[in-house]
Amino acid sequence: MSVELPPAGTYTVDPERSSISFTTRHMFGLGKVNGTFRVESASITVAEPVTRSTAHAVIGAGSFHTGTPRRDEHVRSAAFLHAERHPEIRFESTGVSRGAGGVWVVEGHLTIRGHRAPVELTVDSLSVENGSLKISASATVDRYRHGLTAAKGLAARLLRLTLSATADPAASSVQKTEAASAAESAEQREELPMSPKIAVIYYSSTGTVHELAEAVADGARKEGAEVRLLRVSELAPEEAIASNDAWSAHAAATKDIPIATPADIEWADAVVFGTPTRFGNIASQLKQFIDTLGGLWAQGKLADKVYSGFTATATAHGGQESTLLALYNSVHHFGGILVTPGYTDPVKFVDGNPYGTSHVNGQGAIPVDDTARAAAVYQGKRVAAIAARFNAA
Ligand SMILES: Cc1cc2nc3c(=O)[nH]c(=O)nc-3n(C[C@H](O)[C@H](O)[C@H](O)COP(=O)(O)O)c2cc1C
Repeated sequence: MSVELPPAGTYTVDPERSSISFTTRHMFGLGKVNGTFRVESASITVAEPVTRSTAHAVIGAGSFHTGTPRRDEHVRSAAFLHAERHPEIRFESTGVSRGAGGVWVVEGHLTIRGHRAPVELTVDSLSVENGSLKISASATVDRYRHGLTAAKGLAARLLRLTLSATADPAASSVQKTEAASAAESAEQREELPMSPKIAVIYYSSTGTVHELAEAVADGARKEGAEVRLLRVSELAPEEAIASNDAWSAHAAATKDIPIATPADIEWADAVVFGTPTRFGNIASQLKQFIDTLGGLWAQGKLADKVYSGFTATATAHGGQESTLLALYNSVHHFGGILVTPGYTDPVKFVDGNPYGTSHVNGQGAIPVDDTARAAAVYQGKRVAAIAARFNAA
């Protein structure tokens, strides 16, 4: 991998010297399929700093080509890409960052058949030759996230895409200042459907629910959401907190996390509540916060939002489901739209709680593990994806 950072400016991709190839599998994963798409148009704006750079591309859905006419026709048909109605596959970048091992990553959204989902493009090589950019980049696309769920099991869910492109300096390209490119990307953001706004609001005494809240927030951000991670006010007396080392340490460690207010609920398109179990019910600290929402409820401002929940207990059958169901009672009174994880992803067959993410912490002896974390990230993503659909409707 070699990446030479090019001079700032706008570069136009030449479709004749560019291609997108893909690899996937069919026949229950036994056969390999290779093919190509055509880049219809694309441009890259390299900014200073380079992390403010932007890229967008239009790919012809009808250009899907594997060399097997019957298969190509089927994939272009309404069963998959529906190229007649959705002729363009679009990529819009949202950010550029340098990941692990110094690898450059272009984050963005890919819209296929009208379904927009996040994608990460890894820059495999980038060089400048006679003023033109030569770029090679790759990405993994999960077709299910774009609603292309036909032939489940028969055709693979993931496609590996490789972009090989040559981009020439645009005629009007000028060296861009940071301010100019920031203004341009703000303009581009305006054209995109609005990112969903998610409030993750939790109570935690000893940190378990806090860790789950971080993972839910992480999942929502990965889905392109704007996230506020907020805790509710502590109600317990100082002496009670001081008498428990884990509680006082956690209170000190999270004192800078902002306290949730009703205005945060009003702001949010979706709210994900987190609470430890208290005798099979939600914690009084979270209940107290919910009880401050009467004013918003009276104005109908709690209705028509997405809600979801997560929890933790000390013991395996200690009330995770009853706690989430108790929380969801209030959501019905709000007129909210309950979005639970169900068994909508393979991770849910591992953690096993369709009502929401939950973790058994064994009185502090069992830290949040990969199973609970994966379920929490998935819940955040799912809430953000469904909220985005309501935003777009
Ligand atoms: C008053 C009280 C009641 C509790 N009730 C239950 C219970 O019914 N079932 C259970 O498994 N754990 C119960 N617990 C344990 C907590 O649910 C558990 O420690 C919690 O999930 C830890 O979350 P945190 O680290 O975010 O505070 C209770 C704890 C307290 C303080």
